[in-house]
Amino acid sequence: MATIGIDTAHAADILSTGGLVGIPTETVYGLAANAFDEQAVIKVFKAKNRPAFDPLITHIANNDALLPLVKHIPEKAQLLMDKFWPGPLTLVLPKSDKISDLISSGLTTAAFRMPRHNLLHKLLVRIEFPIVAPSANPFGYVSPTTAEHVNQQLGDKIDYILDGGASKIGVESTIIGFEDEKPTILRLGGLSVEDIEALVGPVGINISSSSKPSAPGMLIAHYSPSKSVVSGNIDEIIKKHAGGKIGILSYHEKYPGYPNFVLSEKASLDEAAMNLFAALRWFETQDVDLVITEKVPDEGLGKAINDRLNRASIN
Ligand code: TXA
Ligand code: MG
Repeated sequence: MATIGIDTAHAADILSTGGLVGIPTETVYGLAANAFDEQAVIKVFKAKNRPAFDPLITHIANNDALLPLVKHIPEKAQLLMDKFWPGPLTLVLPKSDKISDLISSGLTTAAFRMPRHNLLHKLLVRIEFPIVAPSANPFGYVSPTTAEHVNQQLGDKIDYILDGGASKIGVESTIIGFEDEKPTILRLGGLSVEDIEALVGPVGINISSSSKPSAPGMLIAHYSPSKSVVSGNIDEIIKKHAGGKIGILSYHEKYPGYPNFVLSEKASLDEAAMNLFAALRWFETQDVDLVITEKVPDEGLGKAINDRLNRASIN
């Protein structure tokens, strides 16, 4: 198991000498390494068992750190950065030679994000290099939202985990690409489509979860937990599976008599997003074969929640 603590100097030492550190962010926990140290980046892929075709996000402390890493910043990318960084937004931009092909999986573009988290910021300003940080879960599992989740799944492969408390947003960052300068959402996430469109006008959404995804890591079963998940009208699905070992993952209503996780009793989509991955993990510990869930309202963070539930379900 890794040591868990709040020592940013220690975390900085580990990163500077090629080690791996679990880091808190406002979206989910990440598995960090020095982006300029090829061997350290290889360790990240190995620790996660992540295929080399799934590129990494490079995390930076401030705008100045971005400039040497990119060739060009589209106008709308600049607007988005100015308004939403630091925050749950990742931009895919043409990369400079400073970003290795390992990080970008051979693409000419690479993903960048400036996280909004005090403790992580303290670490980022201590080091003189950007860090790569995929979500700190083994490939194909749900992203961690606490230091303890990271320790459970990757503790034997990491030197240290920086404990910044439970992630406040709870779903991964929204990813936007700029083919032909036009913004397109490649992954729904912690920054809502409404907030993005209010700033830059209508954006395309291309989150196809086929075998040829536009954001290469967004394979269909990427968030699949080990139980079957089925989504729809909860009461109807309960009837179909009467007698089975079922659990209920509901938005705001309670289902007494079943192992039941309510995402937000007050029907807040922000609170539901924050609880979503912990809820999926909770069902792993319950004696159920099937988790029945439902769509949440398709607005705000609800779009990202529905996307993750879709990816986790068999229907
Ligand atoms: O919220 C987050 O973004 C978290 C925290 C830790 O920052 N990180 C995260 O990283 O979710 P990861 O590696 O689990 O997902 C990053 C995804 C990749 O799977 C891939 O789909 C996309 O970013 N990506 C990276 N580079 C890309 C590129 N050049 N073009 C398109 N998509 C890219
Ligand atoms: Mg991930």
